Amino acid sequence: MTSDDMAVSERALAWNELKARVGACQKCDLAHTRTNVVFGQGAVDTPLVFVGEGPGADEDAEGLAFVGKAGQLLTQILNAGGISRGDAFITNVVKCRPPNNRAPTPEEMMYCGDYLEAQLLLLSPKILVCLGNTPTRWILKTTEGITALRGRWFDWRGIAVLPMFHPSYLLRNDSRKKGSPKDQTWQDVQALKERLDQLRKEKRE
Ligand code: URA
Ligand code: SF4
Repeated sequence: MTSDDMAVSERALAWNELKARVGACQKCDLAHTRTNVVFGQGAVDTPLVFVGEGPGADEDAEGLAFVGKAGQLLTQILNAGGISRGDAFITNVVKCRPPNNRAPTPEEMMYCGDYLEAQLLLLSPKILVCLGNTPTRWILKTTEGITALRGRWFDWRGIAVLPMFHPSYLLRNDSRKKGSPKDQTWQDVQALKERLDQLRKEKRE
């Protein structure tokens, strides 16, 4: 076994341990009201990670991230931009559903954020897309709003961070007019695709 293989298998072990730990977690009050813990899913050997806010009703029922209406819209938007959702890993800041889809509290994010941080360190992606205010503020430690931050590139520990509107927001703002949230998101998806293509090219060279 080469040292590289070793690192890979150790990483897989750490990932499985993390998954088991999150699956049994009781660190905050959301543990009492959840049906399923939503660890996140998708490719683990990937340059691209998406982070949302927290599971909704459908995600809580299925134990999977972004499988409800917002998730379906996200899949469509990515497909339209030539990005396959299955090639990315997708998760949330909190892994258990906040009741009535309220935003997670600072305390819940403090406890659960440790898991997201561990996931990101193990996945070590090149690009992190933050969907909406909650993940953007948590990652960038800012109080600035998504409207000002979307479409701009930031850095988190060497990972390129791209804030985008949350798909639930787009469901509520359906206009496709120039400058609308949907139009801006389309610009962001194209920028994301460009950056991904650039990464692939660099990898081949
Ligand atoms: N909204 C989120 O932020 N995350 C999900 O997984 C689903 C909807
Ligand atoms: Fe644990 Fe996170 Fe679920 Fe709270 S939301 S119980 S910290 S997994």
